[in-house]
Amino acid sequence: MGKLLLLTGLAVLLQLQLASSTNIVCYFTNWCQYRPGIARYMPENVDPCLCTHIIYAFAGMQSNQIQTIEWNDVALYAGINGLKSYNPDLKTLLSVGGWNFGTQQFSTMVSTAQNRQTFIQSAITFLRKYGFDGLDIDWEYPGNRGSPADTQQLFTVLMQEMYEAFEAEATKSNKPRLLISAAVSAGVGTIETAYQIPQMSKYMDLINVMTYDLRGSWEGFTGENSPLYAGPADQGSYIYFNVNYSMNYWKDHGAPAEKLMVGFGAYARTFTLSNPSNHGLAAPTSGPGAAGEYTQSAGTLAYFEVCQFLKSGATTVWNAPQETPYSYKGNQWIGYDNPKSFAIKAKWLLENKFGGAMVWAIDLDDFLGTFCGEGKYPLMNSLKSALGVTTPICSAPALPTESSGGKPSSSEKPSSSEKPSSGGKPSSGGSPSSGNSNFCAGKASGLYPDPTDKNSFYNCVNGRTFQEHCASGLVFDTSCSCCNWA
Ligand SMILES: *[C@@H]1O[C@H](CO)[C@@H](O)[C@H](O)[C@H]1NC(C)=O
Repeated sequence: MGKLLLLTGLAVLLQLQLASSTNIVCYFTNWCQYRPGIARYMPENVDPCLCTHIIYAFAGMQSNQIQTIEWNDVALYAGINGLKSYNPDLKTLLSVGGWNFGTQQFSTMVSTAQNRQTFIQSAITFLRKYGFDGLDIDWEYPGNRGSPADTQQLFTVLMQEMYEAFEAEATKSNKPRLLISAAVSAGVGTIETAYQIPQMSKYMDLINVMTYDLRGSWEGFTGENSPLYAGPADQGSYIYFNVNYSMNYWKDHGAPAEKLMVGFGAYARTFTLSNPSNHGLAAPTSGPGAAGEYTQSAGTLAYFEVCQFLKSGATTVWNAPQETPYSYKGNQWIGYDNPKSFAIKAKWLLENKFGGAMVWAIDLDDFLGTFCGEGKYPLMNSLKSALGVTTPICSAPALPTESSGGKPSSSEKPSSSEKPSSGGKPSSGGSPSSGNSNFCAGKASGLYPDPTDKNSFYNCVNGRTFQEHCASGLVFDTSCSCCNWA
């Protein structure tokens, strides 16, 4: 009897734990493999104990069917899904779309019942084949950016039909139902024309609100990437562009709080100041900030590059009303998050009973711990600890150290938060370079064929030389700057 009670008590406790569990949804990008030098990021760099969900970004679409976009996606899928052997509770989702993917193919896909079924059935087959637990739709955005107005309703229809098809498949296959998530806008004007919040929410497991990119160089004045609250400098509709306002808007308009994930950005939005002596909030700017050494995209810096910027002698200001820092040096100004602002947002998230955090993206944190001096994954660890998420049955694999990252690969054009879908880029193939270490001296950054070896190519980054190999059997093709069949 006592034993039974104890067991019942335990069961109730477990139930409670499950019911109150907070999600950490991490995006992994399939172009971070192309970052140069030690910033190259592969599935084996992921610490599977820092996330409850990993969303693989991105897949594409062809003739309304889901498809790969990188030459080695299938190998990377295996790497990401293999992380479940370290963390049995980890769920993985595949994301289709992204900012650069645009809206045309989504609009066409949802426009007829037949196209929707083609897509949904292709997704089921694809996800099961590669071992994903769900699908993430990153359509930016229904009813906007070229999507016809009626796609606001059709987005709900897609969610409903997907839910019904996933339920039916689960019954038939006797497997847990595939999860349904979407990355959604944080801007009120977009939300109003893109989503039928209460209707679509019924069919969704995770609603990932992109509460970042809330200010950027396109504005023409400085501001924080992901401010928790409106600040004194905010005027007009800018008072709506903050995490607190967006998340409450979603909640107050019919999304269940436990399905809402608060977006956390592990990167900075950067600016070039018009006048370096005017370096506060809402100071005039002339354009994006300089590109980072590793992410190579003007206007953003990965968190690990933020640390490089800070160490170069920048001045940091804690923007207390918005609970986020900013820094400046010369004419460069950056608005970003650090472990402190992540922890404050996490505490606010718990107080407001949201379902968890979504992080864009895990590869932008200081995953090696070499840039910031805050240990490995300082942002992710701050978030996990502040959310009180524990992973008792997760054992992290031994993470590769710097030496494994010494052979970088092609330059990365796309920016972190612009979520591009890159084309077939070359990859690293294995053996260390034996080539000309001064090859890139005086050359513009970019990819160059190796005149002595068709399988090899040089990746020049600001005059630094990185030699890289295509996968075996492939040769470097200058016409696409990619590895190709001979
Ligand atoms: C957070 O948002 C809510 C709902 O919009 C609002 O009532 C509250 O004042 C906001 N908090 C702060 C500190 O701005």
